[in-house]
Amino acid sequence: MLDYEVPSEPDVVMKKVFVKTYGCQMNVYDSQRMADALATDGYAPTDNIEEADLVLLNTCHIREKAAEKVYSELGRIRQLKEERLRDGRETIVGVTGCVAQAEGQEVLRRAPVVDLVIGPQTYHHLPAVVKRVRGGEKIVEIDHTSDDKFQHLPQPQKSVVRHRGVTAFLTVQEGCDKFCTFCVVPYTRGAEISRPVAQIVAEAERLAEAGVREVTLLGQNVNAWHGRSGDGQEWGLGELLFRLAQIPGLERLRYTTSHPRDMSDALIEAHRDLDKLMPYLHLPVQSGSDRILKAMNRKHTHDDYLRLIDRIRAARSDIAMSCDFIVGFPGETDEDFEDTMRIVREVTYAQAFSFKYSPRPGTPGAELKDHVPENVKTERLQRLQALLSEQQRAFALSKVGQSMDLLVEKPGRYEGQRVGRSPWLQPVIVDEAAGGIGEMVRVRIAEAGPNSLIAEPA
Ligand code: 5AD
Ligand code: SF4
Repeated sequence: MLDYEVPSEPDVVMKKVFVKTYGCQMNVYDSQRMADALATDGYAPTDNIEEADLVLLNTCHIREKAAEKVYSELGRIRQLKEERLRDGRETIVGVTGCVAQAEGQEVLRRAPVVDLVIGPQTYHHLPAVVKRVRGGEKIVEIDHTSDDKFQHLPQPQKSVVRHRGVTAFLTVQEGCDKFCTFCVVPYTRGAEISRPVAQIVAEAERLAEAGVREVTLLGQNVNAWHGRSGDGQEWGLGELLFRLAQIPGLERLRYTTSHPRDMSDALIEAHRDLDKLMPYLHLPVQSGSDRILKAMNRKHTHDDYLRLIDRIRAARSDIAMSCDFIVGFPGETDEDFEDTMRIVREVTYAQAFSFKYSPRPGTPGAELKDHVPENVKTERLQRLQALLSEQQRAFALSKVGQSMDLLVEKPGRYEGQRVGRSPWLQPVIVDEAAGGIGEMVRVRIAEAGPNSLIAEPA
């Protein structure tokens, strides 16, 4: 049975678990599923680390900075653990996620405060591992197991889903077989796996029944998802989206992160034909230079990417493009960087994330010669980010005066305000009279602030 009940007897004092999430949305999803698994074991979630009997850091290994943050946090947690011990309270400390997977035993060596290290493939073992730690063991579990963790992780109760809000993530695919030479994901998250159709549909239906209106399908390589329909047909993400669009109550669908090589015709058709599929696409290109794209093992050129965008825009003219870029990959010359600036001008992005290349242990990129000096990386990043923010600002301004559907998500920062998202993922602030949380309302954009749009009822 996948469902569970939170123990309700008054004499059961639940222990508390605090989960801190780093990195991508897949980690956000995993953190929730871990909390769900631990709830069956008597751990209630808390936002206050000081009252936590179990502290989990769900970590990211994508760049050096992300990984180092974890160790400084563990330093603070060591103090906290000592303080709590003086009051006679034990604290179990766990490291999960991609740092756990990449560093394993090394985490215990560098941070002896840690009691358990568990990789993304074995989260369904977490309750059992915590029990053993309570018995005095230290545990490292980072095998890539073949059993299906998603099948074994409990689904949250409807009340829990409701509490989390009207939008939800749903991981449909994990891992990566692409082996871009800068990236640790194929090593930390392992080979590509796709969750079966029936499991995904069941989870999406549960979310919808609990009041979720918008689902974002997640995968490190989400558009490489594939599966088989009930009648045995081979499906890709496009077909899956058509199926999910039939679920009553689900108003909006999104997906992330995609690889340009896996934008199938069916997926592009889904953008053309499905009103529920939002006109927003995060499609990382990383670099605009063919030479660097080749060295990155991206398996596409500058031109391939532009032609793909043309096809996507022909299918859905109002689609907003989002992207990831890396500057200063080994061997990147001024000319290569100008090609990146050029592709940004050619495509025009509504949103983008850009990073300085960070050599990751064990990846082929780290072994390359001609590393770009830090000051050159900084300068290139500044120029790129200036151009990208200009485009982002222009995109926001282009919405002023337009009417659009807004999914009202939560109370705003100030009394009487509510915040929702536009179809293009922009936060929109509106008066609470416009509509209740979970409602889709028609609004007109009055103003574009630096980080959000301001709307009035249409
Ligand atoms: N250095 C810098 N950025 C990286 N990314 C992935 N690996 C690295 C790295 N070694 C970026 C890519 C990816 C995003 C999630 O993080 O742009 O799309
Ligand atoms: Fe970080 Fe990538 Fe792991 Fe996500 S998959 S947590 S971004 S390393």
